[in-house]
Amino acid sequence: MKTIVGPASTRLGEKICSLAGLEKICFSFKQFPDGELYVRLLDDVTGVDALIIQSLSPPQDRNLMLLLQLISAFKTNGGGKALVLIPYMAYARQDKRFLPGEPVSAHLVARLIEAAGADRVALVEVHSDTAARGFRNSVLIEVTRSFAEHYLKNGFEKAYVVAPDKNATPRARRLAEIIGGEVGWVEKTRDKETGFVSSSEGELNPAGRKTILIDDIISTGGTIIEAIKLLKNKGASQISVACVHGIFVGNAYERIMNAGASSILSSDTVETPYSNISVAGDVVRALREKSWL
Ligand code: R5P
Repeated sequence: MKTIVGPASTRLGEKICSLAGLEKICFSFKQFPDGELYVRLLDDVTGVDALIIQSLSPPQDRNLMLLLQLISAFKTNGGGKALVLIPYMAYARQDKRFLPGEPVSAHLVARLIEAAGADRVALVEVHSDTAARGFRNSVLIEVTRSFAEHYLKNGFEKAYVVAPDKNATPRARRLAEIIGGEVGWVEKTRDKETGFVSSSEGELNPAGRKTILIDDIISTGGTIIEAIKLLKNKGASQISVACVHGIFVGNAYERIMNAGASSILSSDTVETPYSNISVAGDVVRALREKSWL
């Protein structure tokens, strides 16, 4: 087993290679003047199985096209099994037809990746099981332990853990179980036409407590900022924000800090200057359990 570390996952990929002792397959890539992308494998892959790691972080479409070309280059040049690890799956929120006339983009992306030649796909904290169902054969990886270890080392044992949306409660519960805390949740509604988020109290009891507010994705920050307002009104003593996939559109990071977060934890599934926690340990553990490594 060797690995192809895609350009969107260089930091996480390096860590996975060093933890799992994987050798890298070299490749070059470039963009033509008209915008098209070019990929070329520089090593012989005949008969080799590969773990291909590439996040679909922004710019999503470019990173998807790079992934498709990497898989295709590998499979059409004699490569063996293509095991594809997608640290962040873009388009996963469009996992159903919310309004007439829409496509199910998550399933389209899955079909493209399989059409390129992926034999199996592993997804890190994919937005929903429904999104993952677009793949014939996928492994879902949870990375709660990486977050719990950080919080236990940093004085958040028994902290109150809040989901900014009822659908995000299972993740909050997993974290709370490890750090020994209780769980609360915010009732969030999003206007299907405008995308406008409004939040109200679901079940919240943060008064005087250290609180962790955890979600899968932070994009514009709107969801988290609404939840911070509610938690502050209800007397949370300290609010640490955590997300697996921190996209931080525009000045979202600063807006969340200005809204009253004491810290923001975001992982290397989306590599940004704000990524301050690695999920490599959880990923390698999960891939070993599934006998991928
Ligand atoms: C949505 O269901 C996701 O779980 C996140 O809550 C959402 O994508 C966050 O987006 P934003 O930061 O733009 O509110």
